[in-house]
Amino acid sequence: MPGIDRLSFYVPKYYLDMKTLASERGIDPGKFYIGIGQEAMSISPPDEDVVTMAANAALQCLEGEDNQTIRSLIFATESGIDQSKAAGIYVHSLLGLPSTCQVFEVKQACCSSTMALYAALDRVARRPEQKVLVIASDIARYGIGTAGEPTQGAGAVAMLVSAKPRLVDIMPQSGSFTEDVMDFWRPNYLDEALVDGKFSIRMYLKALTHAWNDFQNDGGAPFAELSRFCYHQPFTKMAHKAHRALRNLANDDQEFHNSILETGLRYNRRIGNTYTASLYINLCSLLEQEKDDLTHDKVGMFSYGSGCVGTYFHGAVRPGYHKHHFGDIHEAMLDDRIELTYDEYTSFYEHQLPIDGSAYSIDAYETGAFRLAGIQEHQRCYERSAACAAALKKLHGAA
Ligand code: HMG
Repeated sequence: MPGIDRLSFYVPKYYLDMKTLASERGIDPGKFYIGIGQEAMSISPPDEDVVTMAANAALQCLEGEDNQTIRSLIFATESGIDQSKAAGIYVHSLLGLPSTCQVFEVKQACCSSTMALYAALDRVARRPEQKVLVIASDIARYGIGTAGEPTQGAGAVAMLVSAKPRLVDIMPQSGSFTEDVMDFWRPNYLDEALVDGKFSIRMYLKALTHAWNDFQNDGGAPFAELSRFCYHQPFTKMAHKAHRALRNLANDDQEFHNSILETGLRYNRRIGNTYTASLYINLCSLLEQEKDDLTHDKVGMFSYGSGCVGTYFHGAVRPGYHKHHFGDIHEAMLDDRIELTYDEYTSFYEHQLPIDGSAYSIDAYETGAFRLAGIQEHQRCYERSAACAAALKKLHGAA
């Protein structure tokens, strides 16, 4: 059964603790820590964008792979950097992927990573000798001082999709729901999303209900067969709200144990909303943080993208999965981040690239293997760091 062969994520080196934001806004930190379930949010410095985060996430995922087998790179984002050119082409170049690897970008808010995953599954089902690299990368940005501000974040996830996956088989049944609503959107002329927060939560839950019913009609696993649940997490409390709704829907009267969700929320609680990457960081957290053996466990997954589309599907964890994840690397990456003061956060937030294409160079901050160096004649110029040379050598040397 085709599925996810490798899974890795990347977050910027900087974060804002929610208590810093709470104190600045005169709000009880409990509202953020408990009320929305967030401890911190990842903040990208001026020289990181969806391309650099994506390339960093993929670097880990591709280590030891024969890149010649990767015939497609599908990039999901709602923080696009160009109306025409796919952001994935820059990633393709930064990683030195073969020219025979086709690249394209998909969009439907946070749900587009799931569309990208499904496109990849179809491709490897037809051509089992090939692999597809799916990358989801986003910077969640709301206005300063708005209700959405504490639900920001930044990060990217990379998934290698294959016909014989080492981590999770993705089952063919799925359920979907689409409705034209304005719960969250970002017009081309704005850098921040517009949102009707309470309505967006209601739409998320409505989409979950309908997508679940459609999933059941499609022969998907009944609730009692699913032992773990992953959700798109704009903030981790949303997963609890969603799971409560799903249990009601399935008339589940068993006692709820927090552990069913908890290990899957750990990373997102420290990262914040990563839009397209969020659901798959939840899956990553579950596979890497859960102490119990998950082999053959069926995992229900709900993907929600405002606007809106919801999709329910499920996967089954492969035997030996724990030998193929990057838990230690991901934990160290989260532990090694630099905490921002409020003023540093606002200065990162306020940084803007020129919109007249004039030559502009960006100060160097702490980044991973790639950074955005500046703009020249309306073109983004990316740079590889010294650490990158060694990583790329490892990548291509292994092929
Ligand atoms: P708000 O109005 O600031 O918060 O907006 P609130 O007053 O509703 O409080 C939040 C929770 O904190 C409540 O709990 C309070 O009781 C609790 P709930 O009733 O929800 O269980 N609370 C406290 N708890 C402990 N100690 C305290 C305390 N005070 C209050 N002292 C909102 C919150 C999430 C609406 C806002 O941040 C927002 O608009 N965020 C952006 C929109 C969003 O994330 N929507 C989620 C669904 S849509 C989605 O997921 C798609 C998306 O990812 C985009 C895409 O698809 O591309 C956003």
